[in-house]
Formats: sequence, C-alpha cells, structure tokens
Amino acid sequence: MKSADHRIGPVLCVVGARPNYMKMAPLLRAFAAQPGMPPALLVHTGQHYDFALNDKLFVDLELPAPDVNLEVGSGSHAVQTAEVMKRFEPVVDAQQPSCVVVVGDVNSTLACSLVAAKKLVPVVHVEAGLRSFDRTMPEEINRVLTDQISDLLYTTERDAHDNLAREGIAAERVVFVGNLMIDSLQAALPKAVAPEETVRREGGDPGLLRHPKGFGVVTLHRPSNVDDPATLREVLGILGEVAQRLPLVWPIHPRTRANVERAGLASLLANPRLICLPPQGYLEMVGLMSRATLALTDSGGVQEETTALGVPCLTMRANTERPITIEQGTNTLVGRDRAKILACVEEILSGGGKRGRVPEYWDGRTAGRIAMHLGAWLQRRAGVTG
Ligand code: UD1
Repeated sequence: MKSADHRIGPVLCVVGARPNYMKMAPLLRAFAAQPGMPPALLVHTGQHYDFALNDKLFVDLELPAPDVNLEVGSGSHAVQTAEVMKRFEPVVDAQQPSCVVVVGDVNSTLACSLVAAKKLVPVVHVEAGLRSFDRTMPEEINRVLTDQISDLLYTTERDAHDNLAREGIAAERVVFVGNLMIDSLQAALPKAVAPEETVRREGGDPGLLRHPKGFGVVTLHRPSNVDDPATLREVLGILGEVAQRLPLVWPIHPRTRANVERAGLASLLANPRLICLPPQGYLEMVGLMSRATLALTDSGGVQEETTALGVPCLTMRANTERPITIEQGTNTLVGRDRAKILACVEEILSGGGKRGRVPEYWDGRTAGRIAMHLGAWLQRRAGVTG
C-alpha cells in the first residue's frame, strides 16, 4: 500500500466546550492507533477556559495539549460563533486538512463546520442526527445546521437515521457507530474519585453521604432552567424539597452560579442537605454518578452516562434529543413539574425507578469503529489503493 501521509492532509479535530472533551479523547487515541490514518491535530476554540471546566478535564481524560488554541472565550452566541469562524479560517488555510472532525452540538461545532464546508473541506460530525425538535435550544440549531453541511455523519442511536432521512440527508453518508461518551466512561470508572473524597476536598461533610438512601447528584445549566430569575427560584425550591428526602450533591456550572447570585437567590443554596460544589473534574463526576441513587439534570451527557451506569435519571427538561435513554435506559422527563419530580423520587427511594438496559454499541469501542471507517474513507477519497 502507498503511504497515505504525503497525499492526505491532517485531520483537524475540534473541541470547544466541556461535553466535547469526553468524545474527543478516545477518538484521538483511536486515530493514533489506526494504520494509514493521517496525523490528527487538536484545535481548541477556547469556548470554555476555566480551570474547572477545561484544564482539569484535559488531565482526567488524558487529552494532549491542543496544537492550536483559538482563545475565543465567552460572548453572545453571534459573537462567539463569529469569533470562532474568524480564527479557525486561517488554521484551515495553513493546514489544508483532509477533513475537520466536530463533535456534539455546541457553538464551536457549528462555527468550525461552517468554515470547513465553505472551503470544501469535508466535515465529519460525530453524534449526528440527535433532535429535540425544540428550536428554542441553541444546541438544536447547531445540530440541524451542522448535519446539513456534514459529509460524513456518525450516529449514537438508530433514531438519528430517521431524523436525518427526514431532513434529506443521504443514507450513505450516515454510519451508526455507537456512543463515544461510553468509551470515556468505561476508561474512567476504575480511576473514579470516591464521592466522600470529592466532598471532603471541597470542605464539605462527607458524613452527609451516609444517608440510608444514599445521595442524589444534580447538574443544571440550560438557559431554559437557569436564566430567568423566577424559573431559577422555582428550580431551587424543587431541589430544596427533594433534598429533604435525599441529600443532593450539586457541582454548580459557572453560568448557574452567576445567575443565582445575580437574582439574589444565594440564600436558597444555604441548605445543609444541598451540598453545593464548584464544577468537578471528570473522575469526580464519574465517581458521583456511579454511586448516586438518582441524578437530577438538564445535561445531555448525564442522561447517557446514567443510562450506561443503570442509575435512574430525572431530566428537568420538556424534551430530549436522546430518546433512547427513555425508551431503553433509565431516563424520565420531568420538566419542572414539582409533583412529578417528588413522586419519581419517592418511587426510586422505595426501590423502584427505571433499571433500563445499555443500548446497542454503547460498548466502549465506538472510537475504534470510527477510526477504522474514517481511515478507509479518507484513503478512498485520496485515491490510495491497496
Ligand atoms: C455550553 C454549550 C452547552 C453545553 C455546555 C456544557 C453552547 C450553545 N452551549 O454551554 O451545549 O451543554 O457548554 O458546559 O455551545 N463560563 C465560565 N467559564 C468558562 C466558560 C463559560 O465562567 O470557561 C460562563 C460565562 O459566564 C459564559 C457562560 O458560562 O458567558 C456560558 O458559557 P458558554 O460557553 O456560552 O455556554 P455554556 O452555558 O457553558
């Protein structure tokens, strides 16, 4: 076989925000191990930059330092997306990549896809085809548009294929590979940090976790839950009530923390059974989730991770782009319905709650499947013959 390296430009792998890192870490390792694969370069847009949201996760996931950091930082959606595009374009010009690999649905995903597609560089979207059918979510806009301009679309669940077909995307561009998040989850489980240790390190009382029913883990950061002060007050009220039944550990996202303070609601966090922590690393989160009695969340990733772990998950949203976690997994949509949430909590505490099963191909081997498929696809495109 001819060497591909002289003929095929590097693979530019883009990350921007926290949920991207768990997907990219196993992929980079699999690319490095795939014979004939061109070298991969890691581009960080800088959308997330805090130590807790960024650097700590790079260490936990054993991600290499980015080859390029665009350092865009925070801003409105328009400003952030535009800044990423402006700063990513010269990188594409300089590198002449064979393709750009994007993951998930954050602003950086769409911004880099747009730059590549306009330059006729193939876009490879990992975690394609998920739909909440809720255009008030910025991520839904990012998903729909990224998929439209992608050349190769890798999916985590079969429902995604129906969504993409409905939007006119040719079936031969779509490949079911499974869920990269589970590759990272499986790699992290043996190294997970015990919840007692996490709480102790942050100056909390680990004794609170020795409740007969265990503890719940909370994550909340969606604009729909935390941006409006009245809604945020309602959410905090519900958490307070759940905490009376089960101690809750809540690593608080910076945007949520800032909104709580801005709305003058910090007193609602002063509940000894609501253990509020700064954002945690991946090994800490995996430790918390794997030992939790239940999760209360609005995150996409936590819905998937709890399904893989068999931990009941109550999702505080009206919809989910990950229906398989409801149909097959442990997830239940509860919105901000106080009565429903309390009823679900009671059911879980009395030994019920969804057990679920692990979906097809959520087996820890998704990165290898992508590397093998993409390697062959790039070689075919470059006309390299065996
Ligand atoms: C982004 C993603 C969301 C993902 C989430 C995970 C989009 C549209 N949203 O939301 O899909 O679930 O990441 O965390 O891309 N901030 C910091 N430090 C940082 C980064 C942000 O304090 O390192 C604060 C800033 O106040 C910023 C706010 O968080 O304005 C929002 O950050 P941004 O990246 O716009 O979106 P997220 O809410 O983090």
